[in-house]
Amino acid sequence: MSGTINPLDHPVCLETPRRLGHSAWIEHIPFAFWLTSVLKPRVLVELGVHHGVSFCAFCQAVGNLSLDTRTFGVDTWAGDPHAGNYSEPVFQDLQAHHGAHYARFSSLLRMDFDQAANLFSAGQIDLLHIDGYHTYEAARHDFETWLPKMSQHGVILFHDVTERQTDFGVWKVWEELTARYPSFTFGHEHGLGVLAVGTELPPAVRTLVSTQGAPADQLRAFFEQLGQRIRFGMELQTAQQHLVRQQQLLTEQDQMQAELGRLQTIVTHQQQHIHHVEAEHQRLIQAEADLTRQLEQTRREQAELESSTAWRLSHRLSRLSKTVAPVGTKRRALLVPGSHAVDQGHG
Ligand SMILES: C[S@@+](CC[C@H](N)C(=O)[O-])C[C@H]1O[C@@H](n2cnc3c(N)ncnc32)[C@H](O)[C@@H]1O
Repeated sequence: MSGTINPLDHPVCLETPRRLGHSAWIEHIPFAFWLTSVLKPRVLVELGVHHGVSFCAFCQAVGNLSLDTRTFGVDTWAGDPHAGNYSEPVFQDLQAHHGAHYARFSSLLRMDFDQAANLFSAGQIDLLHIDGYHTYEAARHDFETWLPKMSQHGVILFHDVTERQTDFGVWKVWEELTARYPSFTFGHEHGLGVLAVGTELPPAVRTLVSTQGAPADQLRAFFEQLGQRIRFGMELQTAQQHLVRQQQLLTEQDQMQAELGRLQTIVTHQQQHIHHVEAEHQRLIQAEADLTRQLEQTRREQAELESSTAWRLSHRLSRLSKTVAPVGTKRRALLVPGSHAVDQGHG
């Protein structure tokens, strides 16, 4: 550790951040807590807020340390080519969190950085964090526009000073500025540059920007490890949430399988019932066919009977007897023995 800087003199650097989310700044939060504590800025401005991870870290330190600080977060909340375009709920979510915790001393300024610059007077700002669009031109423009607003205690933070992918150019601005101002560079989490632009800086900041060699590396390692602790904690929490969700899904899957089994049992019973009904149907069709055949057989036999000679003769005789000896007459009783009882029975 540096001979004169002991970060633990400002234990706020060990605090747990209240607001985390998608951000490439998470591992710098302990340093933001520490710097706010040593600088005690009267006015703090952040250019580029997005989800508010870095801005809310500054606000949390101001609130917890009960500092007399006004904080301003500037962003269009529309995105840029590096951050991507994002939608309204990003701002609404931050607005709700920020309003609930920091409304007493903090404001969100929804506008372009250049417009916001007109709201501040020269020499008013003690701590400025530049984290907007990361091309060389944009970062250089933001620095030049806002430098006149910085006070004698002024410190400017630059994010992405070690990021060299595609058209990121803050590293180049940083190279130019560190040749002119005292500075300290963190290499982790895309790099964070601390530029001392004021001439009346608190002792701890003066010591920081003059620390070099092994003590500087120890400071870097200290803040990097505190920062990683936050990131790993966040990743662990996210993994645990996924695990809980997966366990819920597995339970739901088990329940669905049990329900499926129950439905399959019902289907099997229904199929058995259908087979039974089909068999009964077949049996009835067969029975109907048998009866039809029997009926036709009976009809054929009756037809044969009716056409037989004996039947025709007895039929004619019967008709003749009814003519010669009508029913109910004495003649009939004489000619046709036993006819009385039969005729009575026929009515
Ligand atoms: C890298 S993000 C900020 C990240 C944030 N500091 C964090 O804690 O993760 C950059 C933001 O700057 C905003 N921005 C870029 N250029 C801007 C400009 N000229 N005026 C206002 N906002 C701008 C974008 O909308 C984007 O939300």
